[in-house]
Amino acid sequence: MDTKYAIEMKGITKRFGQVVANDSINLTIKRGEILALLGENGSGKTTLMNMLSGIYQPDEGEIYKDGKLIYIHSPREAYEHGIGMIHQHYKLIEVFTAAQNILLGLDEKMDIKGANLKVKEICERYGFDIEPTTKVYDMSVSQKQTVEIVKVLYRGAEILILDEPTAVLTPQETDTLFEVLRNMKKDGKAIVIITHKLNEVMEVSDKVAVLRKGEYIGTVETRNTNPQALTDMMVGHSVALNINRPLYENPHKKLVVENLTCVDEEGIKKLDNVSFIANTGEILGVAGISGSGQKELLEAIAGLYPVKNGSIRVVDDKDNETELVGKTPRKIREAGVGMAFVPEDRLGMGLVGSMGMTGNMLLRSWKNGKGAFLKKKEPENLANRVMEELEVVTPSIDFPVRRLSGGNVQKVLVGREISNEPSVLMTAYAVRGLDINTSYTIYNLLTEQKMKGAAVVYVGEDLDVLLELADRILVLCGGRVSGIVDARTTTKEEVGLMMTQIGEDVDE
Ligand SMILES: Nc1ncnc2c1ncn2[C@@H]1O[C@H](COP(=O)(O)OP(=O)(O)O)[C@@H](O)[C@H]1O
Ligand SMILES: [Mg+2]
Repeated sequence: MDTKYAIEMKGITKRFGQVVANDSINLTIKRGEILALLGENGSGKTTLMNMLSGIYQPDEGEIYKDGKLIYIHSPREAYEHGIGMIHQHYKLIEVFTAAQNILLGLDEKMDIKGANLKVKEICERYGFDIEPTTKVYDMSVSQKQTVEIVKVLYRGAEILILDEPTAVLTPQETDTLFEVLRNMKKDGKAIVIITHKLNEVMEVSDKVAVLRKGEYIGTVETRNTNPQALTDMMVGHSVALNINRPLYENPHKKLVVENLTCVDEEGIKKLDNVSFIANTGEILGVAGISGSGQKELLEAIAGLYPVKNGSIRVVDDKDNETELVGKTPRKIREAGVGMAFVPEDRLGMGLVGSMGMTGNMLLRSWKNGKGAFLKKKEPENLANRVMEELEVVTPSIDFPVRRLSGGNVQKVLVGREISNEPSVLMTAYAVRGLDINTSYTIYNLLTEQKMKGAAVVYVGEDLDVLLELADRILVLCGGRVSGIVDARTTTKEEVGLMMTQIGEDVDE
């Protein structure tokens, strides 16, 4: 194999049950270069890099380091090969100092004095801003990240992988991180930065490798590409899925969002003057590169994200409008708005792990108003229905959902919202990680709700699905609406272009 590459991955395949997370991927990493690994959520970026960091082993394929075939069985072995990864979730001990954390897990004797010196030296060399003697609980998120990076460098890594490092950083902190990455590159290190943010790719990388649905699409030189071309690589050409899409006869407006603006804790606009209408009898798809405001939009509607400006109203059959802004999540639910949001860790949102399906159904049953908790029959019926229709594999409807497999937990989450038959049903990433059959079951159930007259807002990562499942598609870019198109007549290229059109101009 070629010795000009620090790392060469050849034909790497990794499966999780039925899911092919990586399908015969080839990737090369060079010293003195920053490689961006780009792809939508679920495209297989983390999995691929975890095979370099020793967390997973490939089912098929080979890894070469400087031309030599290697096997990496553990993170420790990865370090022995000079490979270190900074994961999305940090594993630091809060009551320890930076230096103590950095030494943790090393065989060498805890020579704190020596460690402090070496840490200081690394910090000066690359421009890190931490003190070895500061305790982790006194640190900002960005300083904690710095500790993780220094820890990897301390262990002699010359190939550094950072998994979505900027997700937790402010724009200023991101600039600082990029400066450090450039210093490390100058020092001859090989850097891989995982991201789905196009502007960051354009700014910091030398090359971009793109993954899509577990497949390797290609690698391009950053200076020869642009956000539009990268989006095309990320989303690809349309693939026919044959999702059933009936037309609803008499749509009328159900949810009105007007000039909605939301800012986060740092004062950064997450939604900027967003306006749209969702009708009864339609599935309104929401498209956008990950992190364009999809999450904030649904949470704002559900009363879970603060609204700075604007109005969100539900409309009843007699055209009476009810303002939702300022109402509690519970009141919003009672107004008929349901949300099934599937977070990356499925237990994060809306389910109580220690309770069974019945308990979890009861938790969100509003039909009978305040008396709901008295009547166990209805939640039980719902639980049974969800279990049957979505084929939830569980010993019983009272078995703690925490102990179900991830896919089954998700079915419970989505099934519960659907069974409640809300008049506005919002779902985000409803089929994330599910197998094909279960995904279609969920598409059918959403379409059933639409034909019953619900307004369904569907946030999805897969443009192919959006193009066939939705009636209209709202495209978000940098927290703004870049357009609303007819899903029956638009093309993937058109939507892809809209996904990059607003917000990128700041960085050009
Ligand atoms: N430990 C796991 N068990 C089961 N499925 C997994 C696991 N890790 C990842 N997956 C699945 O593999 C696919 C790729 O995931 P991942 O590598 O995390 O993507 P990305 O980092 O690009 O968002 C997804 O469909 C995800 O649900
Ligand atoms: Mg990932």
